[in-house]
Amino acid sequence: MRALTAMTMLLAATAAHAEWPQADPRPAFHFAPQRNWMNDPNGLVYYDGEYHLFFQYNPHGDRWGHMNWGHAVSRDLTTWQELPVAIPETEVMAFSGSAVIDWKNTSGFGKGGKPPMVAIYTGFDPKTRNQSQYVAYSNDRGRTFTPYGKVIDIGSTEFRDPKVFWHAPTRRWVMVVVKAAEKKAAFYSSADLKQWTHESDFGPTASSHSVNWECPDHFELPIDKGRPGETRWVLNVSQGDGGLDNGSAGQWFVGAFDGHRFTLEPGWPEAPHWADEGADFYAAQSWNEVPDGRRIWIGWATNLRYASNIPTYPARGIMTMPRALSLRREGTDWRIAQAPVREIEQYRGPARHIADLRLGASPKALDLAESVDMTVTIEALKATQVALTLTDAAGYQLVIGYTPATREVFVDRTRSGPHFHDAFAARHIATLPPGDGPMTMRLLVDRSIVELYAADGTRTITDRFFRGRGPLRWEASSQGGEALIRKLDAWQLRPK
Ligand code: FRU
Repeated sequence: MRALTAMTMLLAATAAHAEWPQADPRPAFHFAPQRNWMNDPNGLVYYDGEYHLFFQYNPHGDRWGHMNWGHAVSRDLTTWQELPVAIPETEVMAFSGSAVIDWKNTSGFGKGGKPPMVAIYTGFDPKTRNQSQYVAYSNDRGRTFTPYGKVIDIGSTEFRDPKVFWHAPTRRWVMVVVKAAEKKAAFYSSADLKQWTHESDFGPTASSHSVNWECPDHFELPIDKGRPGETRWVLNVSQGDGGLDNGSAGQWFVGAFDGHRFTLEPGWPEAPHWADEGADFYAAQSWNEVPDGRRIWIGWATNLRYASNIPTYPARGIMTMPRALSLRREGTDWRIAQAPVREIEQYRGPARHIADLRLGASPKALDLAESVDMTVTIEALKATQVALTLTDAAGYQLVIGYTPATREVFVDRTRSGPHFHDAFAARHIATLPPGDGPMTMRLLVDRSIVELYAADGTRTITDRFFRGRGPLRWEASSQGGEALIRKLDAWQLRPK
C-alpha cells in the first residue's frame, strides 16, 4: 500500500464550503496564529521565563505548504505573543521537531556563557522527498536560529519528527524519531547533538492499524495515586488514520526506558490507548525544561481528515489548551490523567454558580459565556440522558451530554453547523470507570472548541465545532425523567 503521509492527505483535501462566513470568531484562550495555516506544535521548551511554542506554519497561505517554524511565547501557557517566523523554509521545508536548552554547551553553540537553544527538526526536500534530521541553534532566546545542517540521513522519505531530551542517567541526549511508514519509533543518542548513534527501534505493535506513525514523544511520568516515587516511561505516537472514525489520533504506550531501548510494560494490552477520545487532538508534544517538573503537552486541535477544510478565516488551525499529565493505574490497565494547566485559573472572569437546578425535557437557559471554564456535577436521578447544549442563531447545536445507564459522556456535533466535510458530523463517546452517584466533569469551551475532562481527567474528549451565525446560547435539559445539576461553577475566561 502506498504510504499516505499527513501532508499528502492535507493536500488532497478540497476547498471549504462556500456557505461559510469568511470570519469565524477567534478562540479567546486557545492559541491560534493571527493568520494562515498552522499544524503541529514544535520545539516546546521553557527558557528564561518564557514557554516557547513553535509550530508548523505556512506564512504564504491558509493551506498546508512551505513549512516554516512559526513562533509564539508565553509566561503562563495561557496568553501567547506571536513572534516572527523562527526557522524559515530553505532548500528544505522545516518540518516538525523539538528544542532543547544545551546547559552544558555540549554542542559548542553557546555564546557569552549563555546556553544555546537548539532546534532539531526534519528537513523535507520537496525535490527528492527525502526526510532527514537537521539542527539549528539560537543565541537570542529563540527569536532567530543559525542553521548548523543535516545530522541524520538514512536515505528515507518517511523519517521525521525528532523529539530530543536530556537523559540524565546516561548523561546523553536522546532522540525519538519515527520511521513513519514502518510504524517504528527509532531511538538515537548523542553527546553533542551533532553526532547521533542509532540505539534501537520500537514497533510496530499489535495496535498499529494505521498508515503511519508521526510526532513521537517520550517522557517519564509519576504514577499519581498510591505508588509514591514510582514512575513509568510513556511513548506517545500520533497516527495519520485508524483512530476514532478512522481519523487521525494519538496512541500511547507505557514501559521502561534505559536510555537505549523502550520496553513495553509486561502484560500491556493489545487494545490501543488513545490520547483523547474526541476527534481533534493530534501531534501532541510536551515541553522540555518546565521549571516545576510538570509534564505538560499540547495538541493541534484538528483531525487530518478535514484539517484543510475547517471553515475559519484568516487563520486555519488552533492548539488545545496545554495540559498537565500524570499516570494512573486503573485495575490492571493504565490511564493518562490530563488537566488544563492551573495557570488558566488566574484568567477567570465573571462567575456563575448554580446549585440544585432541576432539569426536565424543556431546556433551561444557563446564561454562560462562549469562552468558559466550567465544572459541573450532574445527578441523573431518573433521566436517561442529560445534556448541555450550545445553540446558535441559525439553530445549529452542539450537545455535551451524559448517559447514566452506560456511564458515558459524549460530545455530539452531528448538528453543529453547516456541512463542510463528510467526516466531521459525529458523536464522540468516552466510557467512565464503573461507579454510581453524581458525575463531575470539567469543560473548557472556547467559541469553536470543547475540551471535556471527565473521571478526573482520565477521559478527555476534544472536539471543534462551528456555527451558522449569531451568538451561542447555553441550555440544559434531561430526557426520560428529571435530573439535577447539583453544582455548576463557570467562569468566563478573558485572557486578553
Ligand atoms: C504531522 C506532520 C509531521 C510533519 C509535519 C509537516 O501533522 O505530517 O509528520 O513533520 O506534519 O508539516
